Amino acid sequence: MSKTLDLYEKAKKIIPGGTQLLSKRPEMFLPGLWPAYYEKAEGYKIWDLDGKEYIDMSYMGIGSCILGYADKDVNNAVKEAISNGTMSTLNAPEEVGFAELIVSLHPWAEMVRYARSGGEAMSIAVRIARAYSKKDKVLFCGYHGWHDWYLSANLSDEKSLDGHLLPGLDPLGVPRGLTGLTFPFNYNDAKGFLSLVKKHKDNIGAIVLESIRNTNPNIEFLQIIKETSLKEKIPLVVDEITAGWRLNKGGAHLLFNFEPDIAVFAKGMSNGYPMAAIIGNGNVMQAAQDSFISSTYWTERIGPVSAIATVKKIIAKDVPTHLINTGKKMKDIWLRVAKNNNIEIEVSGIDPLAHFAFNYTNALSLKTLYTQEMLERGVLATNAFYSSYAHDDIALNKYEFSANEAFEIIYKAIQSGNPENFLKTPVCHSGFKRLT
Ligand SMILES: Cc1ncc(COP(=O)(O)O)c(C=O)c1O
Repeated sequence: MSKTLDLYEKAKKIIPGGTQLLSKRPEMFLPGLWPAYYEKAEGYKIWDLDGKEYIDMSYMGIGSCILGYADKDVNNAVKEAISNGTMSTLNAPEEVGFAELIVSLHPWAEMVRYARSGGEAMSIAVRIARAYSKKDKVLFCGYHGWHDWYLSANLSDEKSLDGHLLPGLDPLGVPRGLTGLTFPFNYNDAKGFLSLVKKHKDNIGAIVLESIRNTNPNIEFLQIIKETSLKEKIPLVVDEITAGWRLNKGGAHLLFNFEPDIAVFAKGMSNGYPMAAIIGNGNVMQAAQDSFISSTYWTERIGPVSAIATVKKIIAKDVPTHLINTGKKMKDIWLRVAKNNNIEIEVSGIDPLAHFAFNYTNALSLKTLYTQEMLERGVLATNAFYSSYAHDDIALNKYEFSANEAFEIIYKAIQSGNPENFLKTPVCHSGFKRLT
């Protein structure tokens, strides 16, 4: 009997889909055995409801805890805010303080609005861009959340979003009237982007992309996007929700001299507390006054307080350098354990958001087996690692020791020709799927 596993069985009966975030579904890791719930999280350690301790060498709160869990500096700032009241009829002054801080780090930006989650903030950014341009269509690349403007890309072609992080996203419930308004292009594919611009030129209200995610940008690709945005007067929106704050002290677009009209920040910015910021140049952001964009909980105090404390620490401790170095070390570990055990893998991703793939036809079974074997050794692991400021060499050494043992077993599983026989659970899911 396990309190942790039993609770998830109960959850699936009362919460459709089991969790609030697809990436936290146990089925995405190890169906039936992944510890769905935690009692406590601190640094890079997590304790489940049965008191079992793990080291988290996977997604660190799906990318939201850059500093590590329960960071003391951020928590102290938040505790003080709680003591002084986190909500009132009047506004929290930290909204202005954080706006000044984030604008000072992004000199091209002049104005800031807030929300509390990433997809919501992207939705606001697209609303502001459309309000400014007075045009409807959106050209986009990458994943930007669950909202109608984004999922509507799958109305006309159900595979539109497949190459954009999460395959299989169903636009059920998205009004058919939104068909033909959003069009995806591939990262670093300037030709594909330009042909979309040519086709829809008269009614493009926004261009939306991450400046970097899995691979380095081709600078010419970014230049063509910027030039098109200027020439056609289409607002350019850069999504920094996951890449921001990991490579440098701010949005990754700063590294490439890629100046957008709007940049959006969320989970990388406040170490696990809900907060999102939409920053932009004055002209475009003023359109937010003409469209109705307003919500009670965008005014609570913990968001800006935690963001100020997190960003100050990111700057003071040069956190991005630590994230890059730790990610590089992890990539080396993967390559070493694969070589030691004669296993073919491919390592990719920017260093702070590293991942690897098994180069075999039954890669998903091998990934599941890896998670299974690492879990048995007290390590939360999948084929990706989002480094945090809390991760140190002790964590990496423990990880490497366990990974070596897991890869030994994976080698045997590959040799057997039937790796599924080594699994104690069904194979993990690879994208969006209904739980039956
Ligand atoms: C690039 C990007 N945009 C948007 C989102 C959506 O953010 P949220 O899950 O906070 O709604 C994510 C989340 O993973 C993301 O990685």
